[in-house]
Amino acid sequence: MDNMKISLLFQLSGFHSTLPLAEIEAMLSLYGSFNLLEKTERFAIFDFVGKRNVIDSLRRRLSLVHGVFEFLGRCKLGDIETFFKEKQVQIEMPYRIRMHGMLINDVIDRVADIIENKSLHPCVSLEHPKTSIELFIKGKDVYITKLLFYPDKSFMKHSPKHRPFIRPVAMDARIARCMVNLSRIANGKLIDPVCGTGGILIEAASMGIKVYGMDKERTMVKGTKQNLEFFGYSGDVMQGDVITLDKLFPHNYFDAVVCDMPYGISSSLGNIRRDVLYSKAIVAMRNVVKKGHYVVIMVPEEINLLNVKMKLIEIHKERVHTNLTRRIYVLRKECD
Ligand SMILES: C[S@@+](CC[C@H](N)C(=O)[O-])C[C@H]1O[C@@H](n2cnc3c(N)ncnc32)[C@H](O)[C@@H]1O
Repeated sequence: MDNMKISLLFQLSGFHSTLPLAEIEAMLSLYGSFNLLEKTERFAIFDFVGKRNVIDSLRRRLSLVHGVFEFLGRCKLGDIETFFKEKQVQIEMPYRIRMHGMLINDVIDRVADIIENKSLHPCVSLEHPKTSIELFIKGKDVYITKLLFYPDKSFMKHSPKHRPFIRPVAMDARIARCMVNLSRIANGKLIDPVCGTGGILIEAASMGIKVYGMDKERTMVKGTKQNLEFFGYSGDVMQGDVITLDKLFPHNYFDAVVCDMPYGISSSLGNIRRDVLYSKAIVAMRNVVKKGHYVVIMVPEEINLLNVKMKLIEIHKERVHTNLTRRIYVLRKECD
């Protein structure tokens, strides 16, 4: 297999405090091993060793990252000339230099002088460079990188406002995509057993994953099918109760379960207490997911994991308003 060793700098979206980093780590873990070197509010730097196709996958799938860069090194602002003189930085012409964090014109000029002195035919293109040197400034330090790519954001066309079937429960496409990534599914079968308008299924289907959906409301089942079809995807969507999931599908059947549980506010719970529904539903989800695979579940309260027999990998909290803090639980099935 084609392996690579690379240092990557990810420019994080400010959308959430913990989800962007968790999404990157989940995706990197699918392709090899990694080590977090540094994390600031704006970016995170990793050493990665593993399969080369990680790059294509990050480009296609990342939701909460603005840009991905090859990290070349770090130095004090005053030492930037020495860095470029001593380090072999491959630059294909035309090139450009950009700064992030703070614009210091003098730095761009100093770096440009060195690059252009070293090159036989220097040439700049701000619009279509073959190499984009990108400098991230933090205090008196500069992080020197080369742009690799901007993740494909065409999934934003799936936003609830663009879907033919809309309900207030519909989930933000960025969160839905991030949750699919947190499930660490590469390919195979994913189910959302409380699928609502199909937000999670649309994102998973757009990544080439085979999707299954379920909802207790017939209108939601119809609406999810309509939404999937509208974007050119297909899925197996049925009417049913999440707590009977393990009666409808064989044990160890799915590669991932990803869902946003009903809160009993915009979507009704029927005649069952919320905590009872959640604990029964999680047991059923655990039964249908394969060993070593993940259940990613969004809920509006802490859930009791005592009898769930899954390993808690991480929890991400998001304060929506005074009375609502949503949580995303990432759980792994360790044994049958
Ligand atoms: C929060 S919404 C899901 C929203 C979805 N992620 C989306 O993007 O549209 C929860 C859904 O669970 C469904 N639901 C409620 N109780 C259920 C049950 N016992 N079994 C299956 N679905 C249920 C509701 O009809 C609702 O559509």
